[in-house]
Formats: sequence, C-alpha cells, structure tokens
Amino acid sequence: TKTPHRGREKGRAMEEVNNRKVAIIGCGFVGSASAFALMESGLFTEMVLLDVDHARAEGEALDISHGTAFASPMEIYAGSYDDIADAAVIIITAGIGQKPGETRIDLVNKNVEVFKGILGEIRARQCGGIILVVSNPVDILTYVTVKLSGLPESRVIGSGTVLDTGRLKHIIGEKLSVDPRNVHARILGEHGDSELIAWSSAHVAGIPLEDFYHMRAKGSYDDFRQSMSDIVRNSAYEIIAKKKATYYGIAMAVTRICGAIVRDEKSVLSVSNYMQGEYGISDMALSTPCIVGKSGIEVRIPPSLNYQEQQELKASAAMLREVIDALDL
Ligand code: 2OP
Repeated sequence: TKTPHRGREKGRAMEEVNNRKVAIIGCGFVGSASAFALMESGLFTEMVLLDVDHARAEGEALDISHGTAFASPMEIYAGSYDDIADAAVIIITAGIGQKPGETRIDLVNKNVEVFKGILGEIRARQCGGIILVVSNPVDILTYVTVKLSGLPESRVIGSGTVLDTGRLKHIIGEKLSVDPRNVHARILGEHGDSELIAWSSAHVAGIPLEDFYHMRAKGSYDDFRQSMSDIVRNSAYEIIAKKKATYYGIAMAVTRICGAIVRDEKSVLSVSNYMQGEYGISDMALSTPCIVGKSGIEVRIPPSLNYQEQQELKASAAMLREVIDALDL
C-alpha cells in the first residue's frame, strides 16, 4: 500500500507540477484503457488511479503495472485526492457511460452530479496541472469543470472531437487508400450527434479532399461525404450495440492529448474548450481547433468554415446551450 501524498515533498507548493505524473479519476473501461495506453506510451513515470471503488483502482494499478517490465519503468498505484495536486494532467473519466440506444446527452444529470463531487475535491487542492475531461457528455462536463474546478479555463480541456476526428481520418484513409495521418479533416462542435465536419478545408497533401477523392475513387463526392459522416456519427452507437462500451479509441485520443501537453508539442487538436465569442459562441465549451501545449489551451484557432458549416457549428452550440441552461450548478 502507498502512503498518501506520494510524490510530493513536504512543504512543496501545491501548484508545482511534476511533468512526469498523471492522475486518472475513474477506473471504468475508459479510465483503465487510458491507463494502459499511457503506461505503454512512456509519457509519464508516475500514475495515480482513483475510483469510488478503491479496490478496483488497486486491481487496475496492479494489473497495468505488470506491463511496465515490457514497456518502461513507471510507478502506478491507487491513491486519493491528496495524490493528484501535483499531477501534470488530471484525467476525469468517472461517471456512467451510454447504454445501447442512449445519446451522450442522456447522461447529463447523473454525470454532472458525479462531477460536482470530484470538482469539489479538486478545488480544495489548488491543483497545478491541466484537467482533461473525458466523461460524457464531454462538452457539458468541460463547461461544468470550468465553472466549478477553480482552474483557469485555459487549463481545462475536453477530449471533445479528437476521437471523432481520428475516426474520420481512419475511414477516409481506408476508403481512399491513404495513410490516415495524411488526411487533414476535422470534426468540430459537440462530441455527439450535432457535430460537424469541416469539409471545405479538408485536404490530403495540400490537394483539396474533393479533388483527391476523384483521383482515388468513383462516384459522387456528396454521397461519399454523407457516408463518411454517417459512419463517424454512428461509430459509438455501433460499438456500444456490439460490445457495450467504447474505450480503446478514446484511450488513444487521451494519450495523444497528454503527449501534446507534457511534451509541449503545440499540436493543433480539436478539443473541447471554453469558447471566447468565436462565431458568436461564448460561455460554453465545444470543440474547435486549438494549439495545445504545456499550459493547456494556448491559442484558439478560428476554424476555417464555409457558410453552411458555420450554421452547423451555431446549431451545435444552440443545442448545447439548451442543456447548459437547464443545469443546476
Ligand atoms: C465515443 O465516442 C462513447 O463518446 C464515446 O466512443
């Protein structure tokens, strides 16, 4: 068993961050898959796992720590809130997940209550790192975290549409026989049914996606777009119908975001962030391209959208606004 305050020297300022330390709150499918992916990544040397079921956190810590002999040395343990204050990244995956037929928004009431408890603990500790919100509905919970954590909004990041963007790159790459990493296309807005694809700026190697499509495939580009969009939007529903939960894809998205933070990569990621009035959207969180580095959201990049895409982004924001207006914070 580990002593509390592990990894912090006596008298050290709360805000001082250990760049090699990560905390994960919630050890369900998503939390434990993220812990596993992060162990393999070698990004961190210390990982603390928290769960309301402490034994579950201990079990995951033990199981995952047995992989370190095949990866890189790392300390992994089940801890308490006193262990998270100096973590560079605090990942929150706690809460319930979607059941077959449910939308992400259907989870809002239960998970906001779960977050109120967690954020009270975080607020009491003046954590110095970045909070990465992963639980759903992620945009609403990112907003709630900005409001209740006591952290500046630049240090609150939601995993947002990083996963959806990855899914889109994967499926376009597969259809057009090209490395998904060379597909530059983004999903923005809500991580959920109202998300939109910024088709007008999509490209492969600088070639507009529409032109690249006609070089590599036959048929109507509009039909192709519709089918890509349907596949991505329905991905989570399909996986949940088949295996009850999604976790490996999101675990890789979490690892990607953590890498951008702790390696100060200044990567442009479509993360959920607290909006500052772009396209008239403010006082809510949704995904737009942001430069992510060691201080969190470093710069918000105005998304390049045509008129229709702007309308779609506004519609996504209007949907989230209704949910936010009904919150009791
Ligand atoms: C996903 O998109 C359910 O939000 C989760 O995989």
